[in-house]
Amino acid sequence: MLHNQKVMIIGGSSGIGLETAKQAIALGAEVIIASRSEDKLQKAKEFLGSNASAYTLDTTNEEQVKAFFEKTGTFDHLVVSAAETFGGSFLQTDAAKARQLFENKFWGQYYAAKYGAPKLSPNGSITLFSGVVAYKAMVGSSALGAVNAAVSSLSQTLALELAPVRVNTVSPGIIDTPSRSKMPEDARAKLYTEIAHKLPVKRVGKAEDVAQSVLYLIQNSFVTGTVLHVEGGHILA
Ligand SMILES: NC(=O)c1ccc[n+]([C@@H]2O[C@H](COP(=O)([O-])OP(=O)(O)OC[C@H]3O[C@@H](n4cnc5c(N)ncnc54)[C@H](OP(=O)(O)O)[C@@H]3O)[C@@H](O)[C@H]2O)c1
Repeated sequence: MLHNQKVMIIGGSSGIGLETAKQAIALGAEVIIASRSEDKLQKAKEFLGSNASAYTLDTTNEEQVKAFFEKTGTFDHLVVSAAETFGGSFLQTDAAKARQLFENKFWGQYYAAKYGAPKLSPNGSITLFSGVVAYKAMVGSSALGAVNAAVSSLSQTLALELAPVRVNTVSPGIIDTPSRSKMPEDARAKLYTEIAHKLPVKRVGKAEDVAQSVLYLIQNSFVTGTVLHVEGGHILA
């Protein structure tokens, strides 16, 4: 249970982060969510109820991240699910776009861990987000695979440097969340059917599947420095 514990979820206004907030509240936690869009935060706060508070934050802005943690004070667990990602052919994608991916998903998590860690309880934890394309090469995911691998590596070193605070990474597979809402609906349905057919579990993931794993990492005080794969057997497929 998470009674009397404060869980900070950066990226908590959508998808896996929002579901993690919901599950943490159900376990008795007080939750703070942060992301860039006021509109998404407002809707998330209405959905989560009075045990959640919401702040705007862009994790790519180091000064903003630093000021944010000064303002929010101490807490018990930090989850950083914030990311905006994309794929594309290696030869046809501008290097600037690949750099943007690192800015958002790698440096965003780096700044959050760096400025959030000093505010964490010594019994607390940090959970970062990698992804299956770091472990199973996929056409069109060269930059994203590299970003995800960098996050997993960062978190293992942080598990040593920030101890006794525990630091873990979740590596989701293909999960049906709003992150794919820019894709036309029929193309998305086709992708999900193809992936489900290939996977041992015969379905794509849900935000709930991944949130359960985050809650496990938050609560199990003997787990640190691990990369937890939540991908329906994708690496084997
Ligand atoms: N869904 C999948 O299939 C999948 C697969 C592998 C890995 N993952 C990873 O799992 C994590 C969660 O993904 P998801 O599917 O839940 O995505 P999502 O539904 O798109 O949610 C992403 C969240 O991050 C916030 N965000 C994005 N950029 C931000 C920034 N610079 N600063 C602050 N907040 C930011 C978004 O809100 P705002 O727009 O308001 O900022 C949103 O709340 C990500 O790290 C993603 O790469 C997902």
